[in-house]
Amino acid sequence: MNSNAWWRSAVVYQVYPRSFADASGDGIGDLPGIADRLPAIAELGVDAIWLSPYYPSPQHDAGYDVADYTDVDPRLGSLADVDRILTGAHALGMRVLVDLVPNHSSWDHPWFRAALASAPGSPERARYLFRDGKGPGGDEPPNNWQSVFGGPAWERVTEADGTPGQWYLHLFDRSQPDLDWTDPEVVAFFDDVLRFWLDRGVDGFRVDVANAMAKAPGLPDVAPTAGTDRSGSSPMWEQPEVHDIIRHWRTITDSYPGQRILTGEAWVFPVERLAAWVRPDEMHQAFNFPFLEAPFEATELRRVVQRSLDAFGSVDAPSTWVLSNHDVVRHASRLVMDPLPIGGLRRDHAAVTDPARGVRVARAATAVMLALPGSAYLFQGEELGLPEVFDIPDALRQDPTFARSGGEHLGRDGCRVPIPWTADAPAFGFNATGESWLPQPASWAAFARDAQRGVAGSTLEFYRAALATRRAEGLGGAALEWTDAAPAGVLGFRVGAVRVWANTTADAVPLPEGDVLLASGPLQGEALPAETTVWIRG
Ligand code: NOJ
Repeated sequence: MNSNAWWRSAVVYQVYPRSFADASGDGIGDLPGIADRLPAIAELGVDAIWLSPYYPSPQHDAGYDVADYTDVDPRLGSLADVDRILTGAHALGMRVLVDLVPNHSSWDHPWFRAALASAPGSPERARYLFRDGKGPGGDEPPNNWQSVFGGPAWERVTEADGTPGQWYLHLFDRSQPDLDWTDPEVVAFFDDVLRFWLDRGVDGFRVDVANAMAKAPGLPDVAPTAGTDRSGSSPMWEQPEVHDIIRHWRTITDSYPGQRILTGEAWVFPVERLAAWVRPDEMHQAFNFPFLEAPFEATELRRVVQRSLDAFGSVDAPSTWVLSNHDVVRHASRLVMDPLPIGGLRRDHAAVTDPARGVRVARAATAVMLALPGSAYLFQGEELGLPEVFDIPDALRQDPTFARSGGEHLGRDGCRVPIPWTADAPAFGFNATGESWLPQPASWAAFARDAQRGVAGSTLEFYRAALATRRAEGLGGAALEWTDAAPAGVLGFRVGAVRVWANTTADAVPLPEGDVLLASGPLQGEALPAETTVWIRG
C-alpha cells in the first residue's frame, strides 16, 4: 500500500455537467462549457474533478439513465470534448474521474430494447431481471420491493403479441431497468466500458450505487420490518457478490499506470459497514455519508469523525469526507434546517429563513471537513456559498422522485440549478442566451463568481484559502488528535501543526492563542464568534 497515493488526501471537485457552463446556449450545460472553464476550477486548488454522467441518455434521471456507455450525449458534446477536458485538466495538474453507472441502464439502451422485443427466457432478457408476475394472470409484481424513487420497483411489459407480459426490476425509475450481474455478458461488457475510458486517460470512476449490483438469490420479499433500519440486511443492497465485482474491477484499474481509482457511492450505514467497501483489494474511496448526515454540533461531529477514522483505519483506507452533492440539500441550507432534511427535501420542510446563517454554518462545517485527514469532495457551487433553491415551480421540477412520490418528495432539483458565474449577464454567465433548464433565483447575482473573486471575506476566497492552507500544512495526510481543552460546544482537534476549533454554539468563546491561519467567518477581536471555525498555528 502506497501511503502517499494521491487519492488518500485528494480534494475532488464534482462537476455536474448539465448545470456547470453552457457553451451552446441551449440551457443545458455541456462539455465544451466545462473545457473552457477548467482554469476556474484549477484556481480553486483542487486535485481532481469528477464529472457526473454525460453519456447519451433520454435524461429521465439527469443522465443516470445511460443509453450508451462509451459515447457522449450530443446535447452535451462529443468524445473529442472529453479528450479536451482530459488534456486540459491534466495540463492544469488535475486528475479526472468519470461516472460509472453499472446497476442499471436506460430503457433506451439497445440491450433493453432487444430484451423487450425478445421472448421470456431469451438471452436478451437474461441481461436484466425479468420475472413472471404473481397471482392470477401474473398481475401482481414478482415481489414487494419498492423503488428508491417511490412506488413499486417492478414494471410490467407488453409482450410482442400484445398481451400483458413479464415484469422487470428497476430499483430507481422505471426508465432505469436493473442489469442482471449474474449474466457473464454483463460482466464482460462493463470490463470493456472500464477499459474504454481508462484507455482514453481517465484517472478513475465514481461508481453509482456501488452496493447494489447483486441481488439476493430468488429475489425474496423484503421483510416487513426492514426499510426503517438502514443498517439492516436487505435483499437489494450489500450482497456479498457485489464485493466480487468490485475486486475484479480493482484488478483492471490496478493494471493501468498512474494510480487509477474507484470511488464508491454507497449509502451504507453505519460507517463500520461502509468500511467493508474499501478493503485493500476493493474500492479506493467510499463517500462518507454518515458524516454528511451529521448536524453541525460538536459532540455529534466528534463521534462521527472518530468512528469514521476508526472504521476506515481498520482497513487502512482514508475517509472520504463530503458535505454536498447533486442528490442532497445543499449544506448552506441543510445544516440550518430543523429537522435536518435527511432523505431529501419534502413538501413539509420549511424553507430556510436566515440564509446568511446558512452560509456561516456551511463555511464553518467546510473548515472542519477540509482540516480532516483523508480525502474530500466538493460539489460545484458550494465554493460560492450557494443555497438550496426551494421555490422551483412544480411544473418545472424534473427529478423523477417528485412525480413518483406524488409530489411529497420535492426531489433534488433545488441543488442542481445552473451555477452563477457573472452577476450582470444573461443566466448569470451560465451561457450567453439566458436559457436555463431550471430557473435561477434573482438573488443569485450576489453569489456570482465574479462578484466574489478577489473579494476578501467572500466564500470563494475562503475556499481558496482553505485549500491552499490544507495543502501547505499537509492536513489531508496528517494524524488527528482531539484537544480536550476546548470549551463545551466547541469541537477541538489538532492535525499536524494546526489546531482547529469549531464553535458550534450560538455564543462567542475566547479565541485560543496562536496565529490564525484560516477563519470561516469574521473574528471579533479576541473572540471566536458563534458558528465559526478557525485554524490556528500554535
Ligand atoms: C445515485 C446518483 O447520484 C443519483 O443521482 C441517481 O439518481 C441514482 N444513483 C440512480 O442512478
